[in-house]
Amino acid sequence: MCGIVGYTGRREAPPILLEGLQRLVYRGYDSAGLAVSSNGTLAIRKMAGPVEDLSQDILQTPLRGVAGIGHTRWATHGAPTTLNAHPHTDCSGRIALVHNGIIENADRLRAELSASGHTFRTDTDTEVLAHLIEDAPGECLEDRVRAVIGRVKGSYGIAVVGTAEPGKIVAVRQGSPVLLGLSEGGTFVASDAAAVRSHTDEVVYLLDGDLAVITADGYQIRRGNGTIPLRRPTRVAWSADAVELAGFERYMLKEIFEQPDAIRRTIASWSARNESEDALAQCNLTPLECRTFERIQIVACGTSWHAGLIGRYILEEMTGIPVQVEYASEYRYKCQLPLPGTLTLAISQSGETADTLEALRRAQSEGSHVLGIVNTVGSTIARESDGVMYLAAGPEIGVASTKAFTSQLVALLLLGLTFGEARGALAPPRARELEGELRKLPELVRRSLEVDREIKELAKIVSNPRGFLYLGRGVSFPVALEGALKLKEVSYLHAEGYPAAEMKHGPIALVDDDTPVVFVAPRDGLYRKVLANIQEVKARGGRIIAICAEEDEEEMELARLADHRVHVPCPSDPLLTPVTTVVPLQLLAYHVAMLRGCNVDRPRNLAKSVTVE
Ligand code: M6R
Repeated sequence: MCGIVGYTGRREAPPILLEGLQRLVYRGYDSAGLAVSSNGTLAIRKMAGPVEDLSQDILQTPLRGVAGIGHTRWATHGAPTTLNAHPHTDCSGRIALVHNGIIENADRLRAELSASGHTFRTDTDTEVLAHLIEDAPGECLEDRVRAVIGRVKGSYGIAVVGTAEPGKIVAVRQGSPVLLGLSEGGTFVASDAAAVRSHTDEVVYLLDGDLAVITADGYQIRRGNGTIPLRRPTRVAWSADAVELAGFERYMLKEIFEQPDAIRRTIASWSARNESEDALAQCNLTPLECRTFERIQIVACGTSWHAGLIGRYILEEMTGIPVQVEYASEYRYKCQLPLPGTLTLAISQSGETADTLEALRRAQSEGSHVLGIVNTVGSTIARESDGVMYLAAGPEIGVASTKAFTSQLVALLLLGLTFGEARGALAPPRARELEGELRKLPELVRRSLEVDREIKELAKIVSNPRGFLYLGRGVSFPVALEGALKLKEVSYLHAEGYPAAEMKHGPIALVDDDTPVVFVAPRDGLYRKVLANIQEVKARGGRIIAICAEEDEEEMELARLADHRVHVPCPSDPLLTPVTTVVPLQLLAYHVAMLRGCNVDRPRNLAKSVTVE
């Protein structure tokens, strides 16, 4: 949720930390701060507002030092003020730390520490950690941090510096992601690889319970009372350019336009495993196991949950296995009997969403095989799943998920195909036909992007309405949900996604000429039914935007009913249509938000990776 970065080495730390924070802003951006060790003191600079403000401030009054930690915040405990920004210090100012996560027993610890004379200056849960370390026994910083860990409940990733050992950073991972970056010029700690990628492609992921001691020359990891052997570093597969804007005005737009490549790579990485057996082996499954599953449950949040809803249509039709889709946040607490023979799919772009991770753990505890469908290599969900199917979408920086969504759909189609064949649910000719359709998707998505200009114009007409309705049926219903979510996230306009026929039971009351109604209406088995729903809205004076198949250009009835028609090339199999019909909805959200002056890459109140419950 928050972003952490630290560096210790032979170079000046502040510019490195500020660059790292810039890369991490998608994790949280309500305030930012640095602590730099210099000449036996800790210089701290922090402020509410974007990292750019902090950079400006440091430019005017420079900080110097070769080791330090930085933080970009998404507030949980305490308002997003300068005082509450990280790093936080102990009473003496000799310990400074940054934290991502939540300390659940912070109130009790704070009361105890206050009673024993500590002075608290902020409303954060994090500050208790600094005061606990101040009092902790131990010869060195790592011993004192270790002593504190036992007293703290919750999930956290922390990085700590102290005046007594200036070139040292101590980092702990317990529930929130932390990795180390290794390079000749020094050692890094960060909450994700984006923060360090321009300096190194070698990272070591910390595991829960790891305490790392980082110096300019490298690192050690301690678990319990001992030091463990060095872990083999993982190589980050994407280049530093992948997190640049590359000429686009925003990351969201860049990522929308990257979809053809992201889909192509996702298909290629699956198909590289020539035989379906190889592909299943990657999921840690055998064809026999795959034939014996009796049901599939999908757990996910947000956009990934929408992908899961579409996955239900895909998997039920291709594999014949019943599928249920759960919000991970609900599933983790719901009363449920163990379901033998269940395959669980945990879908997550970041691989760090706290609710999805807990849902995964719960499913495993019930004996389910969990397959992670994950974009971020080495993330917690990827590591804890029994098998993992990686998307190859590349790093997604925009808070609104776009290329990860379409890559998730493609991954679900590939999975459906593999399972369908292994179970004999898909006849070979149908399987080949679907495979052929799948391979056309990158090109179809590329052509779908050609509506960009048209959508930009359309956005001018609809950028200031009372709200939007998004309607679709069958596999297009979750597309409508996703379109509504995208618009809400980035433009702050209210939008509601609904099954088109269900709107008669309530939402139709919202229809007026100030509420555009977006119909997702590809040419599938429900097309004529959707036309009837469009008629119903038209009869009530609604302004209709129809997302329809390119082939329907001549469709007279739709032409008569819709105020605006946006044509995209649609795959001939309806199961694949969401991959192209969602594209104009992503663009519509983007352009409406830009016209409204919203910060699309950093929408208010949101964070890219939700690592708290
Ligand atoms: O990283 P995840 O896919 O697990 O994230 C789940 C949601 O937080 C995420 O999809 C969120 O809804 C996005 N901001 C949607 O654009």
